[in-house]
Amino acid sequence: MTEYKLALVGFGGVNRALAQLIAERNQQWKTELGFTLKIVGVTDLFLGSVMDRHGLDAASLAKLPTTKGAMAQLPGGTLDALNEAVIKDCGADIIAEATFTNPVDGEPATSFCRWALERGKHVVTTNKGPIALHGAELKALAQRNNVAFEYEGSVMSGTPVIRLAKESLAGSSITGFEGILNGTSNFVLTCMEGGLGFAEAVSQAQALGYAEADPTADVEGHDVRLKVVILANELLDAKLTVNDVTCNGIASLTLDDIEKARHDGARWKLIGAATRQADGSISASVEPRLLSNDHPLASISGATNAVSFTSELLGAVTVSGPGAGRTETAFALLSDIIHIHQSATLKQEHNL
Ligand SMILES: NC(=O)c1ccc[n+]([C@@H]2O[C@H](COP(=O)([O-])OP(=O)(O)OC[C@H]3O[C@@H](n4cnc5c(N)ncnc54)[C@H](OP(=O)(O)O)[C@@H]3O)[C@@H](O)[C@H]2O)c1
Repeated sequence: MTEYKLALVGFGGVNRALAQLIAERNQQWKTELGFTLKIVGVTDLFLGSVMDRHGLDAASLAKLPTTKGAMAQLPGGTLDALNEAVIKDCGADIIAEATFTNPVDGEPATSFCRWALERGKHVVTTNKGPIALHGAELKALAQRNNVAFEYEGSVMSGTPVIRLAKESLAGSSITGFEGILNGTSNFVLTCMEGGLGFAEAVSQAQALGYAEADPTADVEGHDVRLKVVILANELLDAKLTVNDVTCNGIASLTLDDIEKARHDGARWKLIGAATRQADGSISASVEPRLLSNDHPLASISGATNAVSFTSELLGAVTVSGPGAGRTETAFALLSDIIHIHQSATLKQEHNL
């Protein structure tokens, strides 16, 4: 039976939910997936860190109070975030990176990924920053060190889009995609269709926990822009940087615009899209688009996300599901680990 040793870097909503899943489901995974997970290190700027090569109790970690330095309460725990020691020296096979997204330079998460890959450890992450800003470099580093760098949760949380498009749609010749890739802005637009003004709709999203105290990254499209870069580079072999994607948010849409759209049998949506042009170049944008009611994305309401891939052989294939949520995003990390396990099993079977 395979057991993977795991280190959790960043212990906020996502990695804590992963610890909870491990506490509840490890035995089930043994029979269902053919492996178990053992947490050997955790580090977090706020909570501190703890390491034990023999394994930490996942249930106790999941229940740890969210008070500053709480890791120090655990045997061997410290107040400090010993990130480098946890990543490099706690004996982990896999590093689950889930610290905050830095949209400017992807740090410090990019360095965390580099340290791990250079040490020959697999990395699974839900953080858009390192992938959108340094994806090519990190993928090459992983390849050189014969380890995996997986990031399924970075675009639509637990809803599978990257591997679905790369594996199940392989050979269909994908020519582009359009997506509703930010639940907050879609929720705001749905509230506006119910008659709330933009500011009231944003307040409602904040009250329900969909929007941050500062909702700029969501409603101005900056969050979606990172996701467009990731998907375009991954699926269309584009070499886009963030500045290659034009970006306009939803703040200028009025209730009159929404009402006129309804009258015309259409809905406004914030769409992140990329398309391969006839000359082979890739055009990419984030912008409010008026979609007629028969468009595959027009019926996506509330905080749900969806992406519609266009390919030469299939036309439009659309996937919808949650684009956020702690457990949903922790599932994305699990799906990355499953992928690592399946690849390793295949290599073993073929003596590679
Ligand atoms: N939650 C979702 O629905 C979702 C969905 C898709 C993707 N993601 C991505 O997944 C990642 C984690 O999300 P989350 O919801 O778990 O975020 P979170 O609750 O804010 O947790 C992040 C944790 O990382 C810690 N941290 C920040 N900088 C660090 C550093 N330099 N070293 C060690 N720890 C550090 C934070 O500590 P402080 O509080 O002290 O800063 C915090 O405890 C983010 O990049 C997010 O964008 C989340």
